Order: sequence, then structure tokens, then C-alpha cells
Amino acid sequence: MKDVYFPDIAVIDNIRNETGDVKTFTMRFKDPDIQENLTYRSGQFFEVSIFGIGEMPISITTSPSHKGFFELSVKNVGLVSGVLHGLPSGSEVGIRGPFGNGFPYEEVFGKDLLFVGGGIGLAPLRSLINNVLDNRDNFGRVIILYGSRTPGDLVFRDEFKAWEDQPDVSTLVTVDRGDEKWVGNVGVVTTLFPKAGIESKNAVAFVCGPPVMIPFVIKDLLKLGFKEDTIISTLERHMKCGAGKCGHCCIGHKYVCVDGPVFSYREMKAMME
Ligand SMILES: Cc1cc2nc3c(=O)[nH]c(=O)nc-3n(C[C@H](O)[C@H](O)[C@H](O)COP(=O)(O)OP(=O)(O)OC[C@H]3O[C@@H](n4cnc5c(N)ncnc54)[C@H](O)[C@@H]3O)c2cc1C
Ligand code: FES
Repeated sequence: MKDVYFPDIAVIDNIRNETGDVKTFTMRFKDPDIQENLTYRSGQFFEVSIFGIGEMPISITTSPSHKGFFELSVKNVGLVSGVLHGLPSGSEVGIRGPFGNGFPYEEVFGKDLLFVGGGIGLAPLRSLINNVLDNRDNFGRVIILYGSRTPGDLVFRDEFKAWEDQPDVSTLVTVDRGDEKWVGNVGVVTTLFPKAGIESKNAVAFVCGPPVMIPFVIKDLLKLGFKEDTIISTLERHMKCGAGKCGHCCIGHKYVCVDGPVFSYREMKAMME
């Protein structure tokens, strides 16, 4: 059986600057067998280690339908992410996982899907969005709403055009503060709700973003008629093992690293109680 604490080596093949402090790293496992046999669900994460520095949990941002490589989009916020941002292409990092439960996928076949992302929270949603669009016939209408602090903080800009070009997909973007070139919506992501033509009856909402955003989005989704178990979000906790052993990520009797990080609002409420 594989040792969950033992990282496999991955090589950084390409690095894309998304914003001033977010980079997307295209990687592959050095051992071709490990890369070929990699399977995961959107919403799962890897523990990424920089040897001699430390380890951090990062969501897999590539769709499971994309084979031969994987991508991680990382915001530079501290020690490990800062060192990763300084590495050149060709560098090697350690990867453990995939960990966590991932988003429901087959379970939402036939549903309309609403994605609400904020900042780097679009990274795990991007994996699911691309997996949905690669299997478009299995789903109803798709609405993607995304907000960031400023135009310079918007990630995956090029992909929005490709998403829009797919049948029955609409995207709306907003920023908290515009600049002289910005002609789009200004305001928090919930200000897009009245413009998006959302119908909650046969829909599931996926919400990922900074912790401050989530309660406001959930409140407005409930007002729109979404039920507690049709609102799906992720919880961020400080993690160590990623495998349900160390207890660092516990909320009540749940381990966010194995029972989550994806939970319905109904589950989240029960955990907080
Ligand atoms: C399941 C999961 C998936 C994630 N996916 C991504 C992703 O796709 N892209 C991305 O950029 N980030 C993601 N994160 C957040 C990322 O793990 C942290 O930003 C990272 O651990 C920071 O490590 P560091 O050593 O650079 O920062 P540190 O030097 O350890 O910390 C810098 C600051 O960030 C805070 N911090 C660190 N980790 C967390 C955390 N888990 N929750 C809340 N605050 C934290 C610290 O308290 C400190 O204030 C994810 C976190 C989790 C739990
Ligand atoms: S991170 Fe160790 S139990 Fe969850």
C-alpha cells in the first residue's frame, strides 16, 4: 500500500503569471506511470512540498478529463507559496495526494449549475467547470459568476471567452474597485445575481472564495430559493497530514481534509453547531 506521507516528485514544465501574486504551474509526475495512473475528482487537493522549506495544500485546478499533466494555481501569501513562486521551470517539487472528497459530479447530472467564485477561489471551480464543459450534454444551463478585488486580480482571464463560446453558458465578472480601463460591473459578486437570470428550481450552486465572501453569497442564494443541500462550498483549514491523522483540520467531529473540503451548506451548518 502507498505511504500517504511519502511525496512523489513532480516537475514544473510551465509557469503562467495570472496576476501580480498568482501563478499557474503546469506539472507532471517525474515517474510516467504515476502520471498516467493519476485520477482525481475536481475539488480534491495535493499537499505540495518544497524540500527543506515546508508543505501546503493546493487544489488541483485542471479538469480530471485533461490527461498527461496537472495544474496548480498558487497565490503568494507566505513561506512555501513564496518559495514556489521563485522557482524556475524544470524545478522539482514533492506531491502527496490527491486528498479530500471533491465536488459532486455524477450526482448533479441533468442540473443547471451556478458557479460563484471569488479571487483564487476560482481555482478549484475551474477544474469542475472544465469537466462539466468537456461533458456538456450531461448538464443543463451553466452560469459562471466571478469577482475579484481589482481588474489586475482576475485569474484565468483567457478562459472566460472559451467558456462563453460553449452552448448555454453565461459568464459575468465584477471587481470591488475598477480602474480607468475597466468598463464592467463594480461591486461584490452578489451584485451580479440580479443580472444573471438565475433559476434555482433545478439548480445546484458551487461557491468558492475568501471566507468573508461565503456567508453573503449563501444568504442571497437562500433568498433566490436554493435549498441548503443544493449550495455546495469548500472550507479552508490549516492542514498538516491531509489524511485524517493529525487532527489539525478538525471542525467538531469532521476532518476537513478527508470529509471535506467540499460540504453542502446543510453539512456546514451542522458542523458549526
Ligand atoms: C484544501 C485547500 C485547498 C487550497 N487550495 C489553494 C489553491 O488552489 N491555491 C492557493 O493559492 N491556495 C490554496 N489554499 C491555501 C493555501 O494552502 C495556503 O495559502 C498556503 O498553505 C500558504 O502556505 P505558505 O507557507 O505560503 O504561507 P504561510 O507562511 O504558512 O502563511 C501565510 C498566511 O496564510 C495563512 N494561511 C496559511 N494556510 C492557510 C489555510 N489553509 N487557511 C487559512 N489561512 C492560511 C497563515 O495563517 C498566514 O497568515 C488551499 C488551502 C486548503 C486547505
Ligand atoms: S490535516 Fe491532519 S487530520 Fe486533517
